[in-house]
Amino acid sequence: FVVKEGNGAKGVADLGLLPEKYIQPPQERINKQDSRICDAPPIDLSKLNGPEHEKVVNEIVGAAETLGFFQVVNHGVPLELLESLKDAAHKFFNLPPEKKVVYRAEVSPSMVTKLGTSFMPDKEKIWEWKDYVTMVYRSDEDALRYWPNQCREVVLEYLKLSSKMVRVIMEILIGKLGVSPDESKIERLLGMKTVNMNYYPPCPNPELTVGVGRHSDPGTITVLLQDGIGGLYVKMEQDNDAGKGEWLEIPPIPGALVVNVGDSLQILSNGKYKSAEHRTRTTSNKARVSVPIFIVPVPTERIGPLPEVVKNDGFARYREVVMQDYMMNFFGSAHDGKKSLDFAK
Ligand code: SIN
Ligand code: FE2
Repeated sequence: FVVKEGNGAKGVADLGLLPEKYIQPPQERINKQDSRICDAPPIDLSKLNGPEHEKVVNEIVGAAETLGFFQVVNHGVPLELLESLKDAAHKFFNLPPEKKVVYRAEVSPSMVTKLGTSFMPDKEKIWEWKDYVTMVYRSDEDALRYWPNQCREVVLEYLKLSSKMVRVIMEILIGKLGVSPDESKIERLLGMKTVNMNYYPPCPNPELTVGVGRHSDPGTITVLLQDGIGGLYVKMEQDNDAGKGEWLEIPPIPGALVVNVGDSLQILSNGKYKSAEHRTRTTSNKARVSVPIFIVPVPTERIGPLPEVVKNDGFARYREVVMQDYMMNFFGSAHDGKKSLDFAK
């Protein structure tokens, strides 16, 4: 089949096809009318250095406790670099298939670069309308050697220039749990960084497909650059409404980055911070790109509710898990909302 030839969803889209394999059951389809746009203004991180410091801290913590998603501006990544990243993503995915397939997991010269399609195509009944390339960061040298040359420099720069704000946000969120952030613990929680370039080709019928199906992210936090097309939806948790949360669209804001809490941070905080379920819609006439940075604790780290928080709450909502086991479980089956968190229950 087309996917096996390595050109993924784009290969299918280029043929103008919408195979059965991509047609979602009605309950997974995204109806624009069923959601509204999240109107939370972006958080200005430059204000952390001024008299409004505490207000900004509260905005970050408040967002992490409620929606689990927020947008930031003045984050340290220059706007021109954001543009270059989006250009690089288009450039990479528009390469002729034979130039891309060399990065497929089975043949990639290094574990740090992997080209894929959908999420876990071997394990999914229905495929997601998406291609991606994953770039794991181990060292600069390694990145410059093995990441695709269409994007290695800009992605490395993105990782570098966002790392300060990632650390600041993490320190704020951990600090507000009443835990004095121990430097080595923070270091381990920020341990593994991976950048994805996601490509959602134009889809003949967006009503029938999804870009990414419902899931929550396994790590601590994710930073996401999305382009101007839109289509990222987040589910509001409503404790008292039998799981019937509302879907909010996170609108593209020029120059902003999206930040969201992942499962590990929900576990560490004993449920105080929300790792929200999210998904993306496809578009009929344009290709959408997004460039997330996944911050994941080091594989050997034991992740459980932090002792200070448990003491305060009087009970632990989750058991302790080893990060690499959690990841194995996450990548062991198709996306299924927040089910990944059951592994820590
Ligand atoms: C994801 O959450 O996996 C992707 C989000 C996006 O492309 O906007
Ligand atoms: Fe995600």
